[in-house]
Amino acid sequence: MDATTSTAPKKQHLIDPEICIRCNTCEETCPVDAITHDENNYVVDAEKCNFCLDCISPCPTGSIDNWRIVTKSYSLEEQFSWAELPVQEQIALGAAIEGGDGEAADDEAARLIAEAHLGVGGKSVAPASAGKPRINLFNRAAPAIATVTGNFRLTHDAADNDVRHIILDFGGTVFPVLEGQSIGIIAPGTDKDGKPHNIRLYSIASPRDGEKPNANNLALTVKREPGGVCSNYICDLRKGDTVQVTGPFGATFLKPDDPAANIIMICTGTGSAPFRGFTERRRRAMRDAPGRMMLFFGARRPEELPYFGPLQKVPEGLLRKHFAYSRVPGEPKTYVQDKMRQAADEVALFLGSDKTHVYLCGLKGMESGVDEAFADICRSAGIDWQQLRADMRAQGRYHVETY
Ligand code: A2P
Repeated sequence: MDATTSTAPKKQHLIDPEICIRCNTCEETCPVDAITHDENNYVVDAEKCNFCLDCISPCPTGSIDNWRIVTKSYSLEEQFSWAELPVQEQIALGAAIEGGDGEAADDEAARLIAEAHLGVGGKSVAPASAGKPRINLFNRAAPAIATVTGNFRLTHDAADNDVRHIILDFGGTVFPVLEGQSIGIIAPGTDKDGKPHNIRLYSIASPRDGEKPNANNLALTVKREPGGVCSNYICDLRKGDTVQVTGPFGATFLKPDDPAANIIMICTGTGSAPFRGFTERRRRAMRDAPGRMMLFFGARRPEELPYFGPLQKVPEGLLRKHFAYSRVPGEPKTYVQDKMRQAADEVALFLGSDKTHVYLCGLKGMESGVDEAFADICRSAGIDWQQLRADMRAQGRYHVETY
């Protein structure tokens, strides 16, 4: 029997169409040509995939890292038609699973089966009160063309990092976004092999109604990376230049629209972009919201902190701010997780409410430190962090976007 007709449970490698930015990296990487695409989706051929996992790390979004245990493999036609991944079907716990080697895929498969039995579902969940996002309206074949209307340096002249605020105007093109979503940018030209550059993903830093209310534009927070093709292209853009844009992307890292929602936001560097959008949306649309917002923001020094000046002017009543600086001469190195511990009582109070949402955005390295800080804070407050985090994830109240 071949992989599509056997009924024994088997792993199937799938790509999440809600997160995939259609950059073609996976298709280029796959050594056995198991990945293909149509105008709608990128998909994995179950008959060809040998679970080598070569495609996993190059994927810029993590959309490639999805697995289901199936008794009948999803066909290419089914996958082409999806707007979202199917939920994991119920498979007997401990069932022998067919499939090639690949420890990461095995772990993920075991987790999915266990979660299906617990009714959790293996998928991140958007906040219940979030708006319905539009995704994948524009792609490489048919990008939206935006015009640059602003490019300002956000970091101090003396800062190590050149971080820029870029404003893109969509003119007559409808490009609907929600706070927390991202867009793709296509740098013009080709790489050393003559292939078009990969699409790069950037979080939107403005609220849904534009950088200025009711403008058909959006803002990005972009750090110039040494040798980075796309970041240098964007950071060098001038007013009037046009840019090819894909997306919008992202269906779960979204702002709750419930005015009673409390929001804990933890970020480093350009990870602050979505939280600028969140804060500005609350300020504009729900100035008297009963929900509270708290920000932990890590940077090397104040001079390196994007939006430092404007952030100082945001009233503490709207946004409780905790800055963590790691490289201020004469001061101890401080990370966001240290500031969380210092504000333990406040954080514990937030976590005690089922209206509280947690968002992490920025360096991947901070994930474990932040998790330990939450665990310590919860231990002192008599809260079971492991259980709370699992509940918050399942309820769309815990969101991580790191790189
Ligand atoms: P560090 O001074 O140790 O690099 P960057 O400016 O490179 O984008 O980094 C943003 C901030 O995140 C810096 O203050 C950096 O500190 C800090 N950082 C680095 N690693 C971690 C980590 N594991 N947890 C929390 N913050 C971190």
